[in-house]
Amino acid sequence: MCGIFSTISLDTNVKNLVVEGLKKLEYRGYDSFGISLIQNNKIKNFKSTGEIPSDPSKIEFEASGSIAIGHTRWATHGGVNTANAHPHLSQNQQYAIVHNGIIENYTKLKQELIQEHNYQFHSETDTEVIVAYFQILKENLATKQALQTLCKKLQGRYSFIILDNNTQELILARQGSPLIIGVPKDETSIFIASDVPAFVKYTQNVIYLDDNQGAILKLADQKIQSHYFDLDTLTEIQKRIIKVEINPEETELGEHPHFMIKEIWEQKDSIRKALEQDLSTLKQFVEKFNEAEKIIFIGCGTAHKVAICTQYLFAKLTKKITLHEISSELKHQKNILYSKTIVVAISQSGETAETLEAIELAKKHGCFTTCITNVRESSLDRNCDLSLFIKAGTEKAVASTKATTGQMAIGSLLAFACADRLNEGKFLLSNTGALINDMLNPRYEDKISQLAKELRYAQNMYIIGKGANYPIALESAIKLQEVTYIHAEGFAGGELKHGPLALITKQTPVLVIASNDDCFQEIISNAIEIKSRGGYIIGISPVNNEAFDYWLKVPEAGLDSPIINLIPIQILAYHISVLKDNNPDKPRNLAKSVTVK
Ligand code: F6R
Repeated sequence: MCGIFSTISLDTNVKNLVVEGLKKLEYRGYDSFGISLIQNNKIKNFKSTGEIPSDPSKIEFEASGSIAIGHTRWATHGGVNTANAHPHLSQNQQYAIVHNGIIENYTKLKQELIQEHNYQFHSETDTEVIVAYFQILKENLATKQALQTLCKKLQGRYSFIILDNNTQELILARQGSPLIIGVPKDETSIFIASDVPAFVKYTQNVIYLDDNQGAILKLADQKIQSHYFDLDTLTEIQKRIIKVEINPEETELGEHPHFMIKEIWEQKDSIRKALEQDLSTLKQFVEKFNEAEKIIFIGCGTAHKVAICTQYLFAKLTKKITLHEISSELKHQKNILYSKTIVVAISQSGETAETLEAIELAKKHGCFTTCITNVRESSLDRNCDLSLFIKAGTEKAVASTKATTGQMAIGSLLAFACADRLNEGKFLLSNTGALINDMLNPRYEDKISQLAKELRYAQNMYIIGKGANYPIALESAIKLQEVTYIHAEGFAGGELKHGPLALITKQTPVLVIASNDDCFQEIISNAIEIKSRGGYIIGISPVNNEAFDYWLKVPEAGLDSPIINLIPIQILAYHISVLKDNNPDKPRNLAKSVTVK
């Protein structure tokens, strides 16, 4: 989703810094980009559709200066063209803006500006309305007051930076979308971005702007001056500098061709990392679970599939009433949200708008809110009463892999802890981590890449599973859809005869997830039903079976089998994607961090 990168520096040529920062945000997904920079007391603006060249000199933007804003846009309001790309300039050319989020009432504000101020707009975006309003407000108000009045007018979730040519300042505001300030110790530069990897090479010291907070940053006396304030009262706020635990190298490709395969291989170690949980936090989770009448696991997309899987494990190991729900659907079930309910939000980024909104709603209804996330200090972490971190390291490929299995590992740990069998759960997970470590070897990947060659021309693929492997079938379909663009669907094995069996024709590939558990015989029966209608059966199982036309062996991992079963499917999706010449890291139309609804 849109990415913001901005900087002020003693260096008078920040263009390259901005390009580098925007390149680091590419993984979030974008279709156009732009930069504004102050040069000789004028804002110079550059916008383009398509990809950012790796070599900044290839960008035809001859400008130098020490204060700039940049943006990668993922189109929401208005098509993909340079007019709609950010930054947007105000009519008087004195302000430029970059923005992430959605202004829900922008049409009304736009009409007001046209009718009352004869304002002329140049784009179809909601963003241009913000900078337009700011220009009008600044005619009579000082910056802080103008920003306060502006933010009171805006409805929605957003963060933005306005570059002010008159005062040579950056003006920041946040309401629901992340804005993180990187503060190098020498105070000769400052970075502002939607995500830490954009500037982590330069500093790991960060300040998180909170909702309803603003900031003004500028260069004065050869030093960066920053001023943070509450947008309601305009009173000054002392912000805490936090050191983030991101190794700059982990955000680089290294020797891997794509982030997706890099992150798949990082699962050699990520389960072990997920296992390293603070015991007192786990204990607090369990205490809250024990007090609750019911627990609802929520998430979007892949994270929702983890929610279903976790719910199955809780149902298997505990007597707690557990439910799962897609984050955006929770609001349609308000009546089941009350004080004896715990909501557990699952989210890699911790910034997914629908999940954040569901948590806000749950809070409003008196629920205790918790999360399982990969990003410390993310909006979700900060909004929930309790958090557990999966510690998978930065995940850059749009298709989630290591974060998914990390989330499942924590779900498993919580279910075992809630059943008062924490040590058993830890032992099982540690064994699962070791099995994944052995499994991820070049020979195994090669075997799967051979299968990818067979499947690359498939038009449709289906995946079936039962019990806790049912959500794995759903998640496998997401992985295949995202990076291969093959039509893929996951079903519960038992549902076949109730409709989907009609889709099976000669040689339709069907992945059958058959763990060695109490579902085994039933899922094999389903496989035979498909095979007798001509389907091509790929069994993902620790044991071979005559129903399988192709056997993808996975190690036996007991109740953690769903975690293991995902690995070959992730590798398969990756290799089909590469064979089809797709970019597995940046699937078309998708973004990594979905910060708008
Ligand atoms: C698919 C994928 C998405 C995310 C979803 C939620 O591979 O990654 O379906 O799971 O957009 O994102 P987070 O986990 O950041 O809340």
